[in-house]
Amino acid sequence: MIYTNDLKLDSPIIFDSHSHYDDERFNDMGDELFRELKSTVCGIVTCGCDEMSSRAALSLAEKHDFVYAAVGIHPESIGSGTTTEQIENLAKHKKCVAIGEVGLDYYWLSETKERQIEVFESMIMLAKRLDLPVIVHDRDAHGDTLEILKRHKPKGVVHCFSGSVEMAEEIIKLGMYIGVGGVITFKNAKKLPDVVRIIPDELLLVETDCPYLAPEPYRGKLCHSGMIKLTAQKIAEIRESTTEEILKLTAKNAKKLFNII
Ligand code: NI
Repeated sequence: MIYTNDLKLDSPIIFDSHSHYDDERFNDMGDELFRELKSTVCGIVTCGCDEMSSRAALSLAEKHDFVYAAVGIHPESIGSGTTTEQIENLAKHKKCVAIGEVGLDYYWLSETKERQIEVFESMIMLAKRLDLPVIVHDRDAHGDTLEILKRHKPKGVVHCFSGSVEMAEEIIKLGMYIGVGGVITFKNAKKLPDVVRIIPDELLLVETDCPYLAPEPYRGKLCHSGMIKLTAQKIAEIRESTTEEILKLTAKNAKKLFNII
């Protein structure tokens, strides 16, 4: 059982817009995990980082009706040698709803900035060609990320947003969504509450980035989509709303962005 009393909901209203269920930490939980999640979760997007994990994301999506896949080349996985063509072929799958996770990571810098920008731009161009949204990873690369998004204007989401209020305002102006995860429940989330306050209703998404970033009081533990209830609770507090309203609103937004009927 993954559901403790604090995570229970009356109905499946959670939409997790960003996860990594291909992670080996979920391996031994098998289908049981998804059967349990179905009691509170109506949708999950699981993201690929290279060809192999994008394939894994698609096979999870084939197996579970409420799971959808994103395929892409993550900046830390450029070394895998995955090509744009490989991702393009996978993106044509009927349960692929986005190109992701793609973007820039200047914290780990496992590739040069120039190479990361080159791959990011090719992923954005692919998304535009296929009329899919992008799921953007931006770690310590706010300036270049914003510049590239302004130049190409893709539709999509900046996931696990960690920029300033000023950057959030620019993302909002582009009509892009802002993904808020478990970090909002951490005591050291300094700028994020101010960002959460200004996101328009129609551009707010919630996510886990599981198996990482479990919200408090589960910080450091294995995270799953059901824990989004705690993230939504915190967002509701900041926006003077209710947990249920935040979950319904963000599920509606996710379905619109990912074109899920
Ligand atoms: Ni991620």
